[in-house]
Amino acid sequence: MQDIQFVPAAKLKDKPKDETKLGFGQIFTDYMFEWDYDEGQGWHDPRVVPFHNFEMSPAALVLHYGQTIFEGMKCYRRADGGLQLFRPQANFARFNRSADRLCIPKFDEETALAGLMKLIEVDGEWTPSAPDTSLYIRPTIIALDPFVGVRAAKQYKFYIILSPSGAYYPTGLAPVGIYVEDEYVRAVRGGMGFAQTAGNYAASIKAGEIAKKKGFQQVLWLDGVERKYVDEVGSMTMMFVLDGKLVTPELNGTILAGITRDSILTLARDMGMEVEERRVSIDEIFEGAKNGKLNEAFGTGTAAVVSPVGELCRGEERITINHGEIGPVTQKMYDTLTGIQFGRLADPHDWIIKVK
Ligand code: COI
Repeated sequence: MQDIQFVPAAKLKDKPKDETKLGFGQIFTDYMFEWDYDEGQGWHDPRVVPFHNFEMSPAALVLHYGQTIFEGMKCYRRADGGLQLFRPQANFARFNRSADRLCIPKFDEETALAGLMKLIEVDGEWTPSAPDTSLYIRPTIIALDPFVGVRAAKQYKFYIILSPSGAYYPTGLAPVGIYVEDEYVRAVRGGMGFAQTAGNYAASIKAGEIAKKKGFQQVLWLDGVERKYVDEVGSMTMMFVLDGKLVTPELNGTILAGITRDSILTLARDMGMEVEERRVSIDEIFEGAKNGKLNEAFGTGTAAVVSPVGELCRGEERITINHGEIGPVTQKMYDTLTGIQFGRLADPHDWIIKVK
């Protein structure tokens, strides 16, 4: 593991006064973590430094070909004022899997975690305490070579920035209407769907915008080959309660191996629920709405935690789920997961790392 250097800031910023109006990912803290990679030298000089803008060549590879990856996690404030992280090792392990897909050199996960802990040590006071707020953590790696040819870079920057944030969707836990997208696709098998990389999200924006114009909050993606099977919802994992079982698409290479996804499946099994990770056809969902088997539907991810789906629209056909209200399983998953994350409930799986 490498030692983390620290450069103090000359002046600290004012912290947000009204924690009920933070929004998501708009405000940034006093410090950031930085770590550089150069071919022949490897990852070097991990450090916590004042938050600053980057200077880079307009030819930097990341700006042209998107050789970049990111992660998302949160620091939570407990009722006793202490701070804690939720499964950060799982995020850094996934970050390295994304790195492998994008031909970005792997990094030492222990050093990354030590860098994050040091950053939280100096900036943790930015973690808000209003209900359902947290300090959003965004690790990123970018390719820096000034070279306009398609190849893996030889120079990278790993950085982590922090943002005190409220709900990802302003609607919070209110059920949303979702448009089943059958023209555009987000990812295909063999592509990059399982990686947290910019291109997947860039590919998703157009369909999201069209859905919004039609009055829906997000899209439900279908598989890229047959357009028959459920993929993700917006940038989240899709989950259904079907006939009392928790059902979600299997990890087939197009879907992100969500840490929230894994946590919810684990909690469901703890609660004695039957869990199925399998292909789920969109026909099964629409039929389930008619024959009463579709009890609930929700999206799940780090940023939004749980987002109930009240309505699905496919072409001219619309179905309402659980009368457009949040269902009991969805509510229980939200309460249990956030209960563990904020330290209100016991942590039977050792998911929490206390920072203070
Ligand atoms: C999530 O946390 O659900 C994400 O996919 C990150 C999002 C802000 C793009």
